[in-house]
Amino acid sequence: MTHSPVNNHDAPIGIFDSGVGGLTVCRQIARQLPREHFVYLGDTARVPYGSKSQSTILCYARACARLLLEHDIKALVIACNTATAYALEALQEELSIPVIGVVEPGALAAVKHTQRGKVGVIGTRALITSRAYEQILASLAPDLSVFTQACPLFVPFAEEGWTEGKAIHAVAHQYLEGLTKKNIDTLVLGCTHYPLLRQVIQEVMGPEVVLVDSAEETAKAVAAVLEVKQIQNSSSAEGKTLFLVTDSPETFAYTGEKFWGAALKSIQWTDICL
Ligand code: DGL
Repeated sequence: MTHSPVNNHDAPIGIFDSGVGGLTVCRQIARQLPREHFVYLGDTARVPYGSKSQSTILCYARACARLLLEHDIKALVIACNTATAYALEALQEELSIPVIGVVEPGALAAVKHTQRGKVGVIGTRALITSRAYEQILASLAPDLSVFTQACPLFVPFAEEGWTEGKAIHAVAHQYLEGLTKKNIDTLVLGCTHYPLLRQVIQEVMGPEVVLVDSAEETAKAVAAVLEVKQIQNSSSAEGKTLFLVTDSPETFAYTGEKFWGAALKSIQWTDICL
């Protein structure tokens, strides 16, 4: 993928996820950087990524990056742990704009919060198989004990907006029971869809376990990159966000509202098949 650098300070920041999950990250970045414009892409035609193979995830991530580059973005945020695990390095090498992932920020959040040094990580099957969190946590804090658990059904529940009720409780119990016996004090929500299931996850894990996600640390990482590269938007007006989806805008509007915390305006369908 060839691409020439964008030096336009007013250019938007591109953000993508397989679906609505990355909105939790986008919202946090927009809060921290209110003057920036954003183009958010939810690859809803192909969600979930977490059950796909490494090469498929990399191919999807490249396609998302290509679509966003058409909007002349000045930086790219991979707001998906699964795509970060399999595509961050490749996209950093291939693109001439800064590319930021969510795994290292999530790991940093865990290191900041843990007291006993026992950390759990939950995520999609592909994310857990990649061992991306274990590797980064080992480099940040070699003495940590890390316990992981894949929770593949959480993403469809979140995409459907089924964030409470008997069904999700039963699923959460089944997945998390093993982790409740590991004496962890911090649990990384290693999938950007999971913050929407925070309440049920907290109920199953118990009130002593701190749930952390990547959003806040990712927003700090993005702010730092813009500053280092001197590409902050210096306008005094509030930034705008354009939402792109590869499947039905109506479904995205319905579920996305829960992740975004307000109605989503300007949702456009975009053709991933081109
Ligand atoms: N939200 C994505 C993540 O953070 C994955 C969801 C999916 O499986 O598509 O890993």
